[in-house]
Amino acid sequence: MGHLDGRIAVVTGAGNGIGREHARYFAAEGASVVVNDPGVAPDGSGGDPGVAARVVAEITAAGGTAVASTDSVADHEGARRVVATAVEAFGDLHAVVANAGILRNAPFLDMTPADLDAVLGVHLTGTFAVAQAAGRYWRGRHAAGDAADRSIVTTASGSGLFTPLPTQANYASAKAGVAALTTVAALELRRYGVRVNCYAPSAHRTRLTRDVPGMAAGPRADGHDPFDPRASSALVAYLASADCPLTGQVFQVHDRTVRVAQGWSVRGEVAADRPWTVDTLAEALAATDLEDPEAPLLRAMGALDDPDRARAAVRALLGG
Ligand SMILES: NC(=O)c1ccc[n+]([C@@H]2O[C@H](COP(=O)([O-])OP(=O)(O)OC[C@H]3O[C@@H](n4cnc5c(N)ncnc54)[C@H](O)[C@@H]3O)[C@@H](O)[C@H]2O)c1
Repeated sequence: MGHLDGRIAVVTGAGNGIGREHARYFAAEGASVVVNDPGVAPDGSGGDPGVAARVVAEITAAGGTAVASTDSVADHEGARRVVATAVEAFGDLHAVVANAGILRNAPFLDMTPADLDAVLGVHLTGTFAVAQAAGRYWRGRHAAGDAADRSIVTTASGSGLFTPLPTQANYASAKAGVAALTTVAALELRRYGVRVNCYAPSAHRTRLTRDVPGMAAGPRADGHDPFDPRASSALVAYLASADCPLTGQVFQVHDRTVRVAQGWSVRGEVAADRPWTVDTLAEALAATDLEDPEAPLLRAMGALDDPDRARAAVRALLGG
């Protein structure tokens, strides 16, 4: 008995990295899977229909059920076709994992409009579009009396949620937006039996992260791989399973630790019994415990195998 027996799932960006692991895990747990991936380069350029087909072949060779979809989720019509592929191939849809992603890192002052649009397009528009297309399909099913559990899992990042990473102004903006979109969609779609949760993978070894300084290239001598790209798949499968009650949550997965996040938290406050002036505010805020934006970044580097090298690389990027 698999935890996803009878479930029909779409995994976007399932041709490589984390999405490929999710698709294989879902199929091994009994789901029928749409492996969506246009096979683009890490910066979103090009395209190769063989990438999704290869993952489908891996799944079917292992005894699972999958079909390929090569549409881009970055345009609404493509996202609609991804959802339609599941319904046409398998007759329904229960879970969507919005995982597709690209990177176009650049120093903020050198980032081009194309760098911004491409990254917002795949991550933020892509998540919105595929979630909306699935949600509209499910609203129709619900109106027709079908009360099956439905689930959307979106993919954020520590960059945008916890750690301001230099050169990722586009990506961090998109990922913070994905987390915000998740909580709004969770509220609005609950009435149709749809749960919406988000998770942020942290330091999973894929083509997007293999150049991160201090990330080991393979497992440790004892076989434990702290950067295993499969690290999140059990959580995502749980969130997609029919018995999961969770909605509106944002998680982070680092190695074997799953953290539960909670929005922006209030670190302190100042209040006055008369209107603030620039001078009284400056004085009051100077006395509060404010964190420099470098602090969470340097803390996060501590999770890597070679934190000193990682911190040196960050300092070089920041010019100090
Ligand atoms: N690797 C990490 O540690 C890490 C950390 C935080 C967040 N993430 C997020 O996890 C997700 C997966 O990243 P990954 O590291 O596995 O990268 P990856 O490059 O290995 O896989 C991403 C896949 O998305 C596909 N894709 C790109 N544009 C697409 C589009 N328009 N439509 C459909 N598919 C598209 C690519 O072809 C690729 O196969 C991304 O959203 C990424 O931002 C990863």
